[in-house]
Amino acid sequence: MLKKSLGTFAVVAVLAPSGCSNSDTGTFSAVGGVSGSRATAESGGNPSAGGVGTSTVSGQIGGTAASGGSPSVGGSTQTGSLVGVGGRPPVGGTTSGGGTTQTFATTANGGRLSYGGTTSTGGMVATGGTSSTGGMVATGGTKAAGGTSTAIGTASGGSTTTSTTTSTVKTCAIATTLKAAGDCNNKLIGTALAQGQLNNGTYTTAAKEHNFVTPENEMKWDTVEASRGNFNYAPGNAIVNFANQNGMKVKGHTLVWHSQLPSWVSSLSTASDVRTVMLNHINSVMANFKGKIYAWDVVNEAWDTPSKKGDGTATLRASVFMNKLGKGFIDEAFTAARAADPNALLIYNDYSTEGMNDKSNAVYEMVKSMKERGIPIDGVGIQTHIGTPNDTPTAAEIKQNIDRIAALGLQIMISEMDINGCDGYTADSMAKLYHDIVAACVSQPKCTAITFWGISDANSWLNSFSEAGCNGKSPTPLLWDNSYKKKATYTSVVQALTGN
Ligand code: XIL
Repeated sequence: MLKKSLGTFAVVAVLAPSGCSNSDTGTFSAVGGVSGSRATAESGGNPSAGGVGTSTVSGQIGGTAASGGSPSVGGSTQTGSLVGVGGRPPVGGTTSGGGTTQTFATTANGGRLSYGGTTSTGGMVATGGTSSTGGMVATGGTKAAGGTSTAIGTASGGSTTTSTTTSTVKTCAIATTLKAAGDCNNKLIGTALAQGQLNNGTYTTAAKEHNFVTPENEMKWDTVEASRGNFNYAPGNAIVNFANQNGMKVKGHTLVWHSQLPSWVSSLSTASDVRTVMLNHINSVMANFKGKIYAWDVVNEAWDTPSKKGDGTATLRASVFMNKLGKGFIDEAFTAARAADPNALLIYNDYSTEGMNDKSNAVYEMVKSMKERGIPIDGVGIQTHIGTPNDTPTAAEIKQNIDRIAALGLQIMISEMDINGCDGYTADSMAKLYHDIVAACVSQPKCTAITFWGISDANSWLNSFSEAGCNGKSPTPLLWDNSYKKKATYTSVVQALTGN
């Protein structure tokens, strides 16, 4: 699939209420992408029941839209959509003749999702539905006319989109702790905690700047159920106790994962055994921690691509769960988790799924399908381990991905953020990337938490992760340096959290 490099964008959703005639003139201007790429002027607006409008899209790399507007209720055929800009065939009953770019989430009353697939820096999400005249959220580098990337605009009657709300990002004074900064725009600020560090006063002082905690290893299968039916909750309980004493919420991490999985599980041979063991693990662990866990990573890293950066055909990763139960293991795990602790938010978590790529598209389609089929899921965790061996998305791409997940009614959590400094960042360029990624989350109300994968550079997992490509250099990936001194990354994160 094409990737972001084309830089222009996919279009087009001007929403029209019923009754709009074909002769109405609708323009929706969106500016973004590479210079000189400019789309889209749509004339004719959208027909309501089965009509056909006309649209022209100019400056589109690789394609044109010759004619044919966007069908509304009842839908008609759209011809000449965008070609060669990536993306997917339409979903939801609308036919897009000659085009592959737009994804139509629904044909109902103009509610529709159009985004740039993996191709563009722009694209837009138009949300609307039976109760609204439509709205648009321009994502990524695209702007709805006059709007900001977080703005909801309305397009009524196919007329020019001019209106927008103002940005939802609030600006506050620079705060003195991360969690106070997070309060400005209502974000939980998390860190991974390791039990072995809880007696280190410098570490715990910095830890208390957070109000959300993920046990780095203490709730993983190899710790919790190292042998069948024997559960060890002591390490996890130690993290929960620290969190309780310091007013922090806890993320449970993680119930079903191919890694840090004892060999007694991976060598189970029958589907019925795997199912019994998986469901018993979920039920037992969630029962132990019931009432103490704000959100659970129910399934971790189920998707795989040929490149760890998320490019290439995405497939569900081989694991004992996938191999014996098929892809339904994910539905089964979430369904069991909801029953085990109805008050915990249920999250699907993965890496190299932050920006727009084949893997994030696969995750998006999966969680969309889960929502549509009534499988209980509340959010998507994007790990945000930036850099070798994982993806290095732009903040604009991350925003585009976050916004499309939010449009499904799901939360997004940045769940394990760090940046691999061995990729050649300066202190300033790393601080800027931290700022811009955090700002992408800040701009989306449904992005609810930002968790950093550790506190001090001294204790980062990347120091001993051979795939990080450091060859003796230090990845310096976090907000505090080796001596627990706050870095430029700390300052830039506080700025982004406070809308600065
Ligand atoms: C890492 C821990 O930080 C290490 O201590 C451990 O040795 C390996 O796992 N994605 C995840 C996390 O979901 O659980 C991983 O944590 C990092 C990658």
